[in-house]
Amino acid sequence: MSERTLVLVKPDGVERGLVGEVISRIERKGLKLVALELKNVDRQLAEQHYAEHDGKPFFGSLIEFITSGPVVAACVEGPRAISAFRQLAGGTDPVDKAAPGSIRGDFGLEVQYNLVHGSDSVESAERELKLWFPEI
Ligand code: PPS
Repeated sequence: MSERTLVLVKPDGVERGLVGEVISRIERKGLKLVALELKNVDRQLAEQHYAEHDGKPFFGSLIEFITSGPVVAACVEGPRAISAFRQLAGGTDPVDKAAPGSIRGDFGLEVQYNLVHGSDSVESAERELKLWFPEI
């Protein structure tokens, strides 16, 4: 069954010129781009997107980081797209959790600068896609 997921190339990924690399891996996996946008994230969108982490010690720096420069947001579709992209991304910590061969495992070093975001469940994907792509 086909699913949709929200993918973000975070400010570090855009700054480092890794947008093409991420999109290429998504397409090579067989997933499809339904929408794609370069976007400056305001505080309101950032806080809504990461609402479930409000109150955690890293919440403030996460909001600062995601609003620090443009991100590339994509709606990505395909069979088991949510898990498929999270496998492409690798675990949250690029060194301790992400395997070599994954995006974070190949290009990341620090947990905050972990390059990409992918929705973690069907419910999160629906909520996040409404926030980022209300028109689709
Ligand atoms: S949790 O607490 O297990 O739910 O958190 P986790 O799923 O690992 O991470 C949620 C998002 O917060 C980011 N994160 C951090 N940012 C900055 N500093 C620290 N220490 C940190 N730890 C986690 C992490 O990259 C996740 O972002 P997304 O965009 O969801 O991948």
